[in-house]
Amino acid sequence: MSFFFNMHLRPTKNTVSVLNEKQNVTLPKNDDVYDLYSNYLKNEEQKEPENRYLSFKNNRKYTYMLEHVTEKLGEQYLKLILTECTEIDEEDLINYLTLNDRFGDTVKSSYVTNKGTNISCSPTSLRYVYHALVILDYYKTTDCENMVELGCGYGGLFLAINFFANILNIHIAKYNIIDLPSANNLIEFYLNLHKDVITIPYEFHESAKYGATVPSGKLFFISNYCFTEIDITNKNLYSINLLKRADHGFIIWQSLTYDLNNMKNVFQDISQVEMIDERPQTCLNTLTPNYFVFF
Ligand SMILES: C[S@@+](CC[C@H](N)C(=O)[O-])C[C@H]1O[C@@H](n2cnc3c(N)ncnc32)[C@H](O)[C@@H]1O
Repeated sequence: MSFFFNMHLRPTKNTVSVLNEKQNVTLPKNDDVYDLYSNYLKNEEQKEPENRYLSFKNNRKYTYMLEHVTEKLGEQYLKLILTECTEIDEEDLINYLTLNDRFGDTVKSSYVTNKGTNISCSPTSLRYVYHALVILDYYKTTDCENMVELGCGYGGLFLAINFFANILNIHIAKYNIIDLPSANNLIEFYLNLHKDVITIPYEFHESAKYGATVPSGKLFFISNYCFTEIDITNKNLYSINLLKRADHGFIIWQSLTYDLNNMKNVFQDISQVEMIDERPQTCLNTLTPNYFVFF
């Protein structure tokens, strides 16, 4: 893979104000789309720890939001991994897939690699592998040392980044996690299940702080299918409290929910942003494709 550029961006000022670390914001809630899934997770939290989240990866109240990559798309992710990411061997790939699919009762699909190896895994896990490898390939060309991910699902991308950064010998000093409260609880639970393999120190941040609690400095921002789909007020608050402090980053930009014209509101110098079509393209509407945005 090779997409790269060395540049520093400063998102422009928006009309919302910068928060200090102690402030919380109560906003009119327009992101109702997350309610069903958040409520499902809150219900899970009421259960005894050993009964929590046992089958979240195949519960429709969760999978309308996450863990819904189709078998066919999974095939395309696998092909991209095997053709573009030649530093990773099949054994590494299968080891991550096995690790990530171990918990949550996911629905698996069957694939065969070029070498004839049979793989049975969640197509969504293949997506996490590809995204992790694209991100690491760019991150290693920057001078960043810390990552912050906005909208982390259940933590599958972080698990993949941790797993492959170790194999590729890429240093990440700290990983900052920002999600809604019930999602943060699931992520914490999920990552605890994998604490024997996680070597990157990580820290949770409340979504109500909009990233104001994430330390500046050599900061690499990641947001896949989150920053561009959340409510505009939330977006603006994340822009000024977090994105403007990021030195570099990667965003999967959904032009369906945030028109590309808005890039000029987020990045001060648009000429320093590189974008390519999302690979594989997952937006069904050809008029509003998704993009991989590197800055
Ligand atoms: C479509 S999912 C994408 C998850 C993950 N990035 C992936 O690629 O699988 C959107 C994520 O954004 C999170 N989210 C929604 N609103 C948020 C907010 N205001 N602050 C932080 N995270 C939010 C959701 O909880 C969920 O984890």
